[in-house]
Amino acid sequence: MSVSTWAISPPEKEKLISAAFEAKKFAYSKYSKFRVGAALLSTNGEVIKGANIENASYGGTICAERTALVKAISEGIASFTALAVVTDVASALSPCGLCRQFIREFCAQTMPIYLVPADYYEKVQKGDINGGILETSIGELLPHSFGPEELDLPRPGGES
Ligand code: THU
Repeated sequence: MSVSTWAISPPEKEKLISAAFEAKKFAYSKYSKFRVGAALLSTNGEVIKGANIENASYGGTICAERTALVKAISEGIASFTALAVVTDVASALSPCGLCRQFIREFCAQTMPIYLVPADYYEKVQKGDINGGILETSIGELLPHSFGPEELDLPRPGGES
């Protein structure tokens, strides 16, 4: 699935990547020591940051992507043009399954998702113009997904 039809300017993309790095600084990753930062760009140009927030009861952990989405939605921001995610690993890491389903709820199938390596700026400095970013979309990360539209499909013989 392509992400090419989305209009995000190079400065906006840079702003979003930088916000994901900023977000990572506030990760509460006391147990895993694995920091994640996420940043969403809304259709009206706002950037909403999120970090992973862990809990002594491990299952209570909230991933960075979901933190950003919950922050945005709960503030009335519900339309997005891009998402960036960064960890401390020097390669592009992909959102977990639960986050994929969460992203699926609120983001269009082809919206760009930038998976940013921790050494993005060093890579750019060394002449890798893309900085090792993996650009993908929720349509690619979660194919054949179940989303809000599926609940509106006709259900012949089912309950109405
Ligand atoms: N984590 C995220 O924040 N996003 C993901 O998509 C994968 C995992 C966090 C959860 C936990 O705090 C740590 O990374 C290790 O799993």
